[in-house]
Amino acid sequence: MRRRGVYDRWVLPRLIDLAMRNKQVTRYRGRTMPAAAGRVLEIGAGSGLNLPFYGGQVQQLYALDPSARLLRMARRKQPAAAFPIEYLEASAEAIPLDSRSIDTVVSTWTLCSVPDAARALREARRVLRPGGLLLFTEHGFAPDPGVQAWQRRLDPLWSRLAGGCHLDRRIDRLIRDAGFDIVELTNEYLKGPRPMTYTYSGQARSPAA
Ligand SMILES: C[S@@+](CC[C@H](N)C(=O)[O-])C[C@H]1O[C@@H](n2cnc3c(N)ncnc32)[C@H](O)[C@@H]1O
Repeated sequence: MRRRGVYDRWVLPRLIDLAMRNKQVTRYRGRTMPAAAGRVLEIGAGSGLNLPFYGGQVQQLYALDPSARLLRMARRKQPAAAFPIEYLEASAEAIPLDSRSIDTVVSTWTLCSVPDAARALREARRVLRPGGLLLFTEHGFAPDPGVQAWQRRLDPLWSRLAGGCHLDRRIDRLIRDAGFDIVELTNEYLKGPRPMTYTYSGQARSPAA
């Protein structure tokens, strides 16, 4: 039990920070983030690897993550930002922000790890203003039956090793079920083991009032 605590608190944050730096992932950050504008909430902000990719249209960023250690790493990376950043140690399942107070929600490789992703997306919709934008790049359930079988097989062990990350989430369906309209979606496998790399990247809108 004690060893698991050490792994989750000290080893895992470092592994997440290292794993999330690869070239293809970084390319997706460069594509996803520039559309963020106004008051922005990033859910599962982790160690702050998206921070350098925000553009000049951001007025205020709320960087939310339940891991105090990852948020500390993010603070250390914080660029001399052109906008204020507030760090929120919280779960995306219960966002400590007012309804309709946010223009853009960003989620990159986070919905796989939130225990109740459907609830997190309903929360994202609650805090977004009508017509607000959800920018997402996530990995999830693949279309190929052979890969799906491996995703189901590996999921129990993988989620224990990878901080609760699940391989079999249908990201597009979760987003639509939360009431968003997907306005842009790209799917592809990145380099690497197919069960872990099927990617959903795009934009979704909260319906106008
Ligand atoms: C694979 S990391 C991705 C981090 C970051 N989004 C990135 O792109 O580098 C998954 C992140 O989800 C966060 N996470 C796990 N449970 C969460 C929850 N309930 N609410 C918000 N974030 C959560 C983890 O702490 C971690 O930072």
